[in-house]
Amino acid sequence: MKGALKTRSEERPQDVQNEKQNFSTVFLLVQLVVVLAAIGGYMLYAKRGHTDLQWWKTSVIYQIYPRSFKDSDGDGIGDLRGIISKLDYFQYLNIKAIWLSPFYTSPMKDFGYDISNHTDVDPIFGTLKDFDDLVKESHSRDIKVIIDFVPNHMSDQHPWFQESLKGTGKYRDYFLWSDGKSSFGMRKPPNNWLGVFSGECWRWNEQRKQYYYHAFVKEQPDLNYRNPDVVKDMNDVLRFWMERGVDGIRVDAIMKLFESENIFQDEPRSNRPDVPAFQYEYLTHIHTENLPEIGDVVRGWKKVMDEYEAKDGQSRFIVVELYDPPAIRNKYYDYGAMPFNFDLVEGLKADCGGNCFMEAISNEYDNLPAGEWPKFVLGNHDRKRVSKRFGVESVNVMNMLLLTLKGTPTTYYGEELGMEEIEVSFEETQDPWGINFGKERYTEFSRDPCRSPLQWDASSQSGFTSSSKPWLPVNPGYKTCNVQVQKKKKDSSLNIYKSLATLREAPAFQDPDVQFAVVNDNILSYVRGTANTGRYLVTMNLGHDSSTADYTNEPANAKSGRVVINTENFNEAKFNVGKSVSLSSLTLKPGQGLVLKL
Ligand code: GLC
Ligand code: MG
Repeated sequence: MKGALKTRSEERPQDVQNEKQNFSTVFLLVQLVVVLAAIGGYMLYAKRGHTDLQWWKTSVIYQIYPRSFKDSDGDGIGDLRGIISKLDYFQYLNIKAIWLSPFYTSPMKDFGYDISNHTDVDPIFGTLKDFDDLVKESHSRDIKVIIDFVPNHMSDQHPWFQESLKGTGKYRDYFLWSDGKSSFGMRKPPNNWLGVFSGECWRWNEQRKQYYYHAFVKEQPDLNYRNPDVVKDMNDVLRFWMERGVDGIRVDAIMKLFESENIFQDEPRSNRPDVPAFQYEYLTHIHTENLPEIGDVVRGWKKVMDEYEAKDGQSRFIVVELYDPPAIRNKYYDYGAMPFNFDLVEGLKADCGGNCFMEAISNEYDNLPAGEWPKFVLGNHDRKRVSKRFGVESVNVMNMLLLTLKGTPTTYYGEELGMEEIEVSFEETQDPWGINFGKERYTEFSRDPCRSPLQWDASSQSGFTSSSKPWLPVNPGYKTCNVQVQKKKKDSSLNIYKSLATLREAPAFQDPDVQFAVVNDNILSYVRGTANTGRYLVTMNLGHDSSTADYTNEPANAKSGRVVINTENFNEAKFNVGKSVSLSSLTLKPGQGLVLKL
């Protein structure tokens, strides 16, 4: 989208909200009716026997980055007790599943993705007892808990690696070790592979007098999955957490799990002219990404989870992280997992409008294996925030898109508020990916800007911590953009998000069909639901010009619709929730979206 790059600050929701503070009881009543109708519809639906939808199909999944969510003990870093203290927030938003990025013991070289003890909680985040309480408290609120499972690598401080350094015993081949090769009498790594964060991925170890392979930072040695003991021990890690009542896993960096058995093979050049020789994208990763051997290991995890499912009948869930197109990612369905679809994050150009979004979405639907369920996401702790990529004015409409499509949506914390990124100087940058690229290019890669503390209220440090120094600075805009302020305003991003999350439970949005309606350079629209479930028209202006269209033809096939959700609530009285709107000539501003009941 073009609108992506300009910020129409005069139209930002907060400012609009300031003008219109008076709460309308009518609105609340209408909302209540909509919610009750949705619940009623769902109960009818369930009664007719459509109860096969697992929880991970119906719920939004909310990603918590524990360092940045809520600090309970005043050290400036979020923790598990902090999360427990905010569980009511998910009930407010009608979110039924949370995914926690790593909270395990870690030297924090990659902020918790370098685990030194898989079966304990880092003291920064709390204790195992805190984790157990978190699960108990979540479940008592009907919220499922998904944890991050990091199988590819671990911290170099982990006892397995420390043992492996000795070069003897059980752990000798737990990692990829190599003497390297000699070239003109000089010792060199065995191949030309590159690290994902760019630069070297083989590191010489003096103690063992060999190189080890690390796909990420040098303190994250890769495990060797060709060793059956590694597979078995990691299955036991999974069991440990299943025993504690975990409902699902998000698998980190799955594509890197295996490397070609013969490590003396270089990877070919990608021939991308814009990429320097040390950058990961300089090579095509035929020996280090998505090798077929991954399948059996994932199937093994699924089997472990099925053991638990058999015990209590509760469906469990594996979602895997990879950024590849359908031809590659869809294989993971066969392995028993659901792949993240990052097409709405990675693939879209800045001037992408309705046509281009439809293409990206169709790419998922048209390629989906029969009977499988899609998984859409708009961002995470590794990518730029929605407000940065598509513009602040597009946050609501992007949430509307994510939550009304067919497929499980994942929301990265803060996107429900339309949080903006922070600016961090190179000197203050903490993320190793950013640091690797130096002062000139760090802003392209650093993940610090999207990891700033969640903005809870207008008090000091946005109510995130009682410390004067949170681990990353709070966004200076927190006084107007925070949970407390947005809760009070009916047309805030937060309350629009809440309405969307609630509406999503209506059977119409679980129906397998998404029927595209008017689609052009600006507009993306579709109809959800059938005569049985009730039908909704969702229309969004994802372009940069106002757009007027006639929606009366198929698939809407209706003269008018009643407004259920409007991303720019109450800007224009004619679009107020509950109003009936003619479909023959409907004008939407850029960044505006409507859900209409047909
Ligand atoms: C995944 C994580 C990322 C981490 C990397 C290494 O891509 O999402 O945050 O740095 O794996 O564990
Ligand atoms: Mg690996």
